[in-house]
Amino acid sequence: MENEFQEGKEEVIQAWYMDDNEEDQRLHHHCEPKQFVSIDRLAELGVISWRLNADDYENDDALKKIREARDYTYMDICDICPEKLPNYDAKIKSFFEEHLHTDEEIRYCIAGSGYFDVRDENEQWIRISVKKGAMIVLPAGIYHRFTLDENNYIKALRLFVGEPVWTPYNRPHDHLPARKWYVDAFVKKGTVGKAVEAV
Ligand code: LAC
Ligand code: NI
Repeated sequence: MENEFQEGKEEVIQAWYMDDNEEDQRLHHHCEPKQFVSIDRLAELGVISWRLNADDYENDDALKKIREARDYTYMDICDICPEKLPNYDAKIKSFFEEHLHTDEEIRYCIAGSGYFDVRDENEQWIRISVKKGAMIVLPAGIYHRFTLDENNYIKALRLFVGEPVWTPYNRPHDHLPARKWYVDAFVKKGTVGKAVEAV
């Protein structure tokens, strides 16, 4: 399933290491020179993604197939703009607080765009730009945050396995089983890989 629906993905998903400039979170925050991160590297962090036809999300067999394979029974729409999101300012602020969840965060961008920032194994921020047609899964236990970009608009489907739990656990929440699971599955592995490479 992870290998399907990949065609043209780089047009709607791009990732790069962020600079450590504190200015406006909605700017791209590229390093100088730019340091892009491949889709394969994202997969090593447990972040998986697909490119789908967002104009057809209501009848799309590809989306159906992913939902069935991964048991994403729940789905709703989240429209992030001041007119449609209650408590807009507070929500935008809380989305950008570094946090984790005890379940996957699954988002499918059907209009607009935005940035999901995730920590790599060495605590560096990777910014993932998603545009219309990008579906992305952040694994349970990964520290991350979200911001709109300069276009200031995203319409995303939120999916979930069973009854949704959106609770964000702001950093630090290292004692949660989901965090331990993530570290065992992805962070330690990354560290060992690096140590071997360094020899
Ligand atoms: C969420 C995003 C903002 O938790 O990370 O909904
Ligand atoms: Ni989140």
